[in-house]
Amino acid sequence: MSSMTSGGAMPVSRPLRARRSNLAVPGSSPKMLDKARGLPADQVFMDIEDAVAPLAKPEARRNIVAALNEGGYDGKVRAVRVNDWTTQWTYADVVEVVGGAGANLDCIMLPKVQTADQIVALDLLLTQLEKSHGLEIGRIGIEAQIENAMGLTNVDAIAAASPRVETIIFGPADFMASINMKSLVVGEQPPGYDVGDAYHYILMRILMAARAYDKQAIDGPYLQIKDVEGYKRVAGRSAALGFDGKWVLHPGQVEAANEVYSPRQDDYDHAELILDAYEYYTSAAGGAKGAVMLGDEMIDEASRKMAVVIAAKGRAAGMARTQTFTPPEG
Ligand code: GLV
Ligand code: MG
Repeated sequence: MSSMTSGGAMPVSRPLRARRSNLAVPGSSPKMLDKARGLPADQVFMDIEDAVAPLAKPEARRNIVAALNEGGYDGKVRAVRVNDWTTQWTYADVVEVVGGAGANLDCIMLPKVQTADQIVALDLLLTQLEKSHGLEIGRIGIEAQIENAMGLTNVDAIAAASPRVETIIFGPADFMASINMKSLVVGEQPPGYDVGDAYHYILMRILMAARAYDKQAIDGPYLQIKDVEGYKRVAGRSAALGFDGKWVLHPGQVEAANEVYSPRQDDYDHAELILDAYEYYTSAAGGAKGAVMLGDEMIDEASRKMAVVIAAKGRAAGMARTQTFTPPEG
């Protein structure tokens, strides 16, 4: 069944958005919603889930609608985390936020996703709301948090469940609880596990699903908010694997995330040089070659693919190149 006949979102072209730093803001705090406007985070997500007490959820929805409509988040991805489908709140969260501020919202974040059906249900609800409020059909994206064993087991189907899905996010705190991991410190290794990284499998599993379906892979929170070195250490691991960004819970973590998930300037320059050199040498003017030398390095089609990734991350992060490729004379 096509997405059109099923009533889900038609594929719209989705922009590649930088999401190095994903700032969590409790929807219950107008002050923090306001402060987020001035912080250099790539994404702001306004929470109605676990950072908001049950009694404060209705007010959080209203605060979020007001903040989104007031604006001031220019250049940032604007997301709202609703409650998960096992609660009594999800439907009203989505209806109120999209109905009240759908034109000023980029994505709905769905926590504790366990099955592809839960994505399909959100997709259908969003399509209905877009139709009834005169919004562009399919523009609002979905960010899927993987926070338990069932979600990880189904992560491939979750990533493929709707063209709206933009990110697959690791939720380490809920995940550790869900699998009975013997640790209370999110991101740190559980005591007794001394033979590697206890999170490697989970991170890789999420990354594979994200890459297979062309989604972004996002790492979750680091709760020791004063320990910026600790943040960088943990972020550095998922960044090294290929993750696109990580949550930030505190202004002090924003710069760290932007740094860790951006290419280094050298790597960015190098990637742009490879792309230019490869384009030149594979053209008729450059001799229509396949494998060519750039300085002391041999580059080929696979080098170009790696360079495309680094260059795209650098461009999305607004980096400027500091070197240019000059074709050889004659
Ligand atoms: C985030 O939601 C987490 O549970 O880590
Ligand atoms: Mg969670």
